[in-house]
Amino acid sequence: VSAPPSSERRYVVLAERLAAQIAEGVYNPGDRMPSVRELATRLGVSASTVKEAYGLLLDRRVVESRPQAGYFVRRPAKLPAPPPMSAPPVRPIAVSTGDIAMAVVHASAEPGVVAFGSAVPCDDFDGTRRVHELLAQKAREWGARGGAYQAPPGYLPLREQLARRALDAGCALGPDEIVVTSGCQEALVLCLRAVAAAGDTVAVESPTYYGTLHAIRALGLRALEIPTHPETGISLEALEMALDEWPVKACVLTPNAMNPLGAVMPDERKATLVELLARHDVPLVEDDIYGDLTYAPSRPKAVKAWDADGRVLLCSSVSKTIAPGLRIGWAAPGRYLAEVKHLKLVTSMATATLPQVAVAAFLANGYERHLRTARGAYRQRRDQLLELVAEHFPPATRVTRPAGGFVAWLELPRQQDSVELYRAALDAGVSVAPGPLFSARERYRNFIRLNYAQAWNGRTLAALATLGRLVRERSV
Ligand SMILES: Cc1ncc(COP(=O)(O)O)c(C=O)c1O
Repeated sequence: VSAPPSSERRYVVLAERLAAQIAEGVYNPGDRMPSVRELATRLGVSASTVKEAYGLLLDRRVVESRPQAGYFVRRPAKLPAPPPMSAPPVRPIAVSTGDIAMAVVHASAEPGVVAFGSAVPCDDFDGTRRVHELLAQKAREWGARGGAYQAPPGYLPLREQLARRALDAGCALGPDEIVVTSGCQEALVLCLRAVAAAGDTVAVESPTYYGTLHAIRALGLRALEIPTHPETGISLEALEMALDEWPVKACVLTPNAMNPLGAVMPDERKATLVELLARHDVPLVEDDIYGDLTYAPSRPKAVKAWDADGRVLLCSSVSKTIAPGLRIGWAAPGRYLAEVKHLKLVTSMATATLPQVAVAAFLANGYERHLRTARGAYRQRRDQLLELVAEHFPPATRVTRPAGGFVAWLELPRQQDSVELYRAALDAGVSVAPGPLFSARERYRNFIRLNYAQAWNGRTLAALATLGRLVRERSV
């Protein structure tokens, strides 16, 4: 290790270097690390810098400390297995998911609660701070113009940036094919309204994001839950059988790093999906909100990349990549463009102007770098979560290995009731999202979804240990 450059965050740089050396095998599991004094002398830094660096590595569970002996590289824990493919009954039903979703959203926003229950991103990245500065800067520059409408389809420079970025997802889109919305939720609802009407059946992954289920319920649609694999996504075989058997009007899917499983559908399956939908003449509302946050070196394509006849309505937002409160989302609705633009106008007139301007500026400069930081951090935090679950939860617990995003899906021992667990955890200052939220028929009683976007520090580590204890107490 060479001495890190001078800066307030010296210890962070030192910790990163030590972690990199461990990853490269310079130090192996079980090896003793250099002592604090030895490193401080060798690098010409203070002992407290080295101690802080080791503190960070302890928090990240890269090293462990043994009293009187020093720091040692941790041996990786035996990780819990992932849950199997889901097996919901494949029959359309009215969505019965209750009001607990609203309670979970509110509970997670309470100060003092460690919010494993929400799907909000980490707010402690430099990129996120930069966007808030841009908002203030643009408000000053734009003055009264910032208070004017940006009528649908929305602020052109933002749509131009989005069209450029769509190329990374394999989609050749012009700015005129994109409609800016107030978040992905609005995009999903507008697109669903464009393709289906009350009484129609919509196929969804199971488990699926509860906002989709609530939209289906509010629009008077019926949900058809399809078995879904935690690594490869929706079962195309089950979907094909369902399309043969039921009058499916549309599908709503999240093929990239879906919430809550974190599955990324492989390219061949995406291509097959489009063929299948074309054969049955069914449109797809594609939720790509986590597409930019997958961990693989190159971004996965959207299903829309294979769409030759405009039947895919692509929806996304910056809620997971930057910040949900900006309320900047969009839809590229293919052949339903005119309808979605009109629905946007009658639903909310327009999306707030200044956030569109600030996000456009950030996408043009800074976003790519921010994404690299966020993806790296989330991947590392996922690995730590898996180890923590192995350490604190009963051995029968299973957990997904999300390929992107920042939520994991845990299958707890059978007798666990995740709604009761949610209440008990909240009393202890920790929120979780109970499994029944993610099913139209309130299945997944013994499942929970956990958010791992925040850094693992004393507070979050203690909260996870508390949660593990509550689950263990309920397992005996
Ligand atoms: C899969 C998925 N789609 C859509 C949304 C809603 O996004 P937005 O906040 O942009 O409306 C969420 C947020 O939790 C989500 O997880």
